[in-house]
Amino acid sequence: MAAPYVYGCGVVSSLPRAGPFSLVSLISRPGNRGKTTTLHIHGDAVTGAPAKPPSQSPSQGGSAKNTAVRGFRRIQLATGGMLLLSSVVGVYLLATDASLWLLAVSHAVGLVIIVVMDFVLGIYSLASSKSVYLPSIAAGVLGFVLQAGDVLTAPQYNMTIPYFARYLFGLGAFDLLLALQAGVVVAGVLGRPHARYLSRRKSRSQRVDYTRRGFIRAAAGLAGLVGLGVLVGSVKLPAPASGTKTTTTGSVQGSVANVKDLQVGTPVYFEYPSGYPNALIKNSDGSLTALSILCTHVCCECSFDAPSSTFYCPCHGSRFDSTGRVVRGPAATDLPAIQLSVDGAGNVFPTGVSNPGPCQV
Ligand code: FES
Repeated sequence: MAAPYVYGCGVVSSLPRAGPFSLVSLISRPGNRGKTTTLHIHGDAVTGAPAKPPSQSPSQGGSAKNTAVRGFRRIQLATGGMLLLSSVVGVYLLATDASLWLLAVSHAVGLVIIVVMDFVLGIYSLASSKSVYLPSIAAGVLGFVLQAGDVLTAPQYNMTIPYFARYLFGLGAFDLLLALQAGVVVAGVLGRPHARYLSRRKSRSQRVDYTRRGFIRAAAGLAGLVGLGVLVGSVKLPAPASGTKTTTTGSVQGSVANVKDLQVGTPVYFEYPSGYPNALIKNSDGSLTALSILCTHVCCECSFDAPSSTFYCPCHGSRFDSTGRVVRGPAATDLPAIQLSVDGAGNVFPTGVSNPGPCQV
């Protein structure tokens, strides 16, 4: 059966293909044969009733709605699952990578906010809350950009960007986190046709916010939250009054200590170049060793462990002996040695770094 309404001039595709009003029958009538015929048809081709705007039949509208609702539900399930998994991976990173807390507290706090955000949005997505559609995509974009953008902060931690990128992207959990955030964005984009359809629903409970303004508002709100967390994490707390290493300088300008003040097995700490922590050690044979104490893994500061006479890194557990050699990984490179000169009065001066590691940029 043909559709009853035909619009425009010479529009014939909706005409009946057979029967008294078919195009074939109109053209093949004896009087019409051999003539060029232009059809001007407005309204009902059969009854001549005036044209009406197209409309979906109730069953068509219902099925389009059901398709959109079902499709949107699937997208929300996928998004919610990925957001929840992302929050679990974030918790894993926070719990297992001490360098986040010891080296980059602001990143750690930022990640905590992202974890909470992903968890809450994930739960709401799984519960089919339509109001979290745009915030979920915004969270995915934000999480991906902020996490991937971490590599740019490498110089802040005395590393080059390529070195830090190698470390960061070499972490399976970090890559999974990025993949999940990207997956949330992709799922959200795939759900656009359904969201667009549902954004036109009259019922509030079925309507989805699908506006650029809604997205910008959600992204700005979440970015503000993460920014606040990073700001709080950047606040430098005063160092505890006791139990910390003290950095010394010698009595003569430029010197870091005097040999007569040094004791075997008790390091003296100094900065060289400015801002880079080092340890000066007097060996049992009276010789001196000076080492950078920035771990060659990802530049956390090592502490001297007197009982084992080793430098211990609290971030991932690397150890170096008193000559700077790696005795336990994950660090793979020895600590850089600081070259020294001693004047006639026993004053010790640093003069250079003999094997700069990844932490001196
Ligand atoms: S920074 Fe990772 S072991 Fe030192």
